[in-house]
Amino acid sequence: MLNFAIQTARDAGSLLAERFGRALRVTNKSELDLVTESDLASERLIIDRIKTYYPRHAILAEESGASSPATPEAQGEWRWIIDPLDGTTNYAHGYPCFCVSIGLEHDGRMEIGVIYDPMREEMFTAERGQGAALNGRRIGVSPTPDLTGALLCTGFPYDVRERSEFARHFANFIMNAQAVRRDGAAALDLAYVACGRFDGFWEEGLKPWDVAAGSLMVEEAGGRVSNYKGGPLSIYAPPILASNGLVHEQMMCVLSV
Ligand code: IPD
Ligand code: CA
Ligand code: CA
Repeated sequence: MLNFAIQTARDAGSLLAERFGRALRVTNKSELDLVTESDLASERLIIDRIKTYYPRHAILAEESGASSPATPEAQGEWRWIIDPLDGTTNYAHGYPCFCVSIGLEHDGRMEIGVIYDPMREEMFTAERGQGAALNGRRIGVSPTPDLTGALLCTGFPYDVRERSEFARHFANFIMNAQAVRRDGAAALDLAYVACGRFDGFWEEGLKPWDVAAGSLMVEEAGGRVSNYKGGPLSIYAPPILASNGLVHEQMMCVLSV
């Protein structure tokens, strides 16, 4: 199933890359939340593939929702959790930072995560208990010991204008970390924590498909994933805090202010 996820993410990513930069039909899901033809085409490719090879598996996909009983953590169930294009706003503006994210959950636990960046041809993979890899080579989180030397990343949820605490967190991290980035693709941000490019990532208001694959990847790369208070992450109700583990408590402190 990992190989299936890898091949499917590669094909969906190639589809996105082929259409990248062309004039696209863009529609708005809300004032800030866009969907392009490419989101829909990528999702169609992934869902068709799953239905062909794993017809009994459930699917939760950003643009078409849940395919069968959508209760999270259903017993004995395999569920593919898909973001067919993470970084839609970037994509629609021709900013080459986006990815495909495919996660596989079993009995409510993430088992496989694949995140593919077709612009850099970077395939991030993780399998529970087997570690994480980038283009087949083992990856691990950074050794950065504290926040003052940390490169962090965050994202702004589409309803950011209604979230006053977000600006406070952002300002506090700028004052306490080495630097803060905002790349616009949450799944890729998590993959970058897993491979040590970022030391930590936080964001609220995300959806299961943004964090399903990436949260497993960070853990399998030796990092830590939690909610803002250090408790277990629910992919169905993020906020998410992900880090190399070493700067986690310091990040929790900043988020508590
Ligand atoms: C978005 C991106 C972005 C994050 C938003 C997400 P989308 O996903 O991951 O980085 O800040 O909260 O919704 O809409 O591009 O798939
Ligand atoms: Ca997304
Ligand atoms: Ca998306």
